[in-house]
Amino acid sequence: MHWSSLAALAPLVAPTEALLRFGCSQLVVQRLDPLVNPGLNPSPHLHQIIGGFSEDFSNYWTAVLYFRHRNGSYHRVPQIGNLGFEGTNGGMTVYYMQDGLANYQQTSKVTAFKPGFRMLIGDAAYRSKAEAARFRQITYTCLQTPATRFPETMNFPTKPCPAGIMANVRFPTCWDGKNLDTPDHMSHTAYPESGTFESGGPCPDSHPVRVPQLMFETVYNTSQFNDQSMWPDAGQPFVWSQGDTTGYGSHGDYVFGWKGDALQRAMDSPCYVNCPTLKTQSVSAMNKCSVPDSVGEPIDGWLDELPGNPSGMKL
Ligand SMILES: *[C@@H]1O[C@H](CO)[C@@H](O)[C@H](O)[C@H]1NC(C)=O
Ligand SMILES: *[C@@H]1O[C@H](CO)[C@@H](O)[C@H](O)[C@H]1NC(C)=O
Repeated sequence: MHWSSLAALAPLVAPTEALLRFGCSQLVVQRLDPLVNPGLNPSPHLHQIIGGFSEDFSNYWTAVLYFRHRNGSYHRVPQIGNLGFEGTNGGMTVYYMQDGLANYQQTSKVTAFKPGFRMLIGDAAYRSKAEAARFRQITYTCLQTPATRFPETMNFPTKPCPAGIMANVRFPTCWDGKNLDTPDHMSHTAYPESGTFESGGPCPDSHPVRVPQLMFETVYNTSQFNDQSMWPDAGQPFVWSQGDTTGYGSHGDYVFGWKGDALQRAMDSPCYVNCPTLKTQSVSAMNKCSVPDSVGEPIDGWLDELPGNPSGMKL
């Protein structure tokens, strides 16, 4: 992980305390899913898996974005470092928050996740807005510049985005306080009873423990695909690796792996990104961290079908 200088973000994000924001490079992109399909090689669809360094040995993963050309071929969309993390090898930005991003005080108490905790949010099979409404704040930002943050949509952007597409995945923020995991990897977590985490909405009685707001931002460099003469007649050209052309099937997975009480200490001690309780890593050291591919199938270049051909998709 690498702590960014948030100075690069001003005035977008004013000084904050105890809001952790770091870039994580990519460990591997392959058809594995340690949470939903443990031990299955390959899993039905492709994921990018990041994490595993310094004091944070957690794993974070999402689906992988492809472009579908009107001629029927697919090409993986390259990922780029977010604002403040330029030069990161793919990967994403991970946040742990005590209050909403715009609340610069970050004063609320949260209980850090416990060893063995894991969760997922989103449903890879969803294809409609009505289904996706079950989840709050799994969205996209059509980047006009790298600093664009609004508006967010639940579906893929419908027009070319000059500075790329940012996929935002925010996890639920209330925990039942008992189960580290549940069969659907979700029922042990819940959204606030009313309002949102950002607005200080209370946790429901069933899930009374307020945990950090975990959020992923992944920036996809769509530049080479923005020429609409290459887009299919059906509409926007991007598709998740599980075969979702709507964007409603975005999902994120998390396996907690912080050393000892490092996350709780970090959340409890007001800090400004370069948190004194935590170690930092340079972008170049971080980029050296990768895991060999253990599936061994082409995922790059022009492909006739998505890896694993998850939904038998052909244009
Ligand atoms: C589709 O277009 C791309 C880019 O020009 C090309 O590389 C690829 O071979 C084409 N695929 C087919 C099936 O013609
Ligand atoms: C985005 O992709 C374009 C086209 O391939 C490339 O020229 C540009 O350098 C990329 N941007 C970054 C930040 O890597």
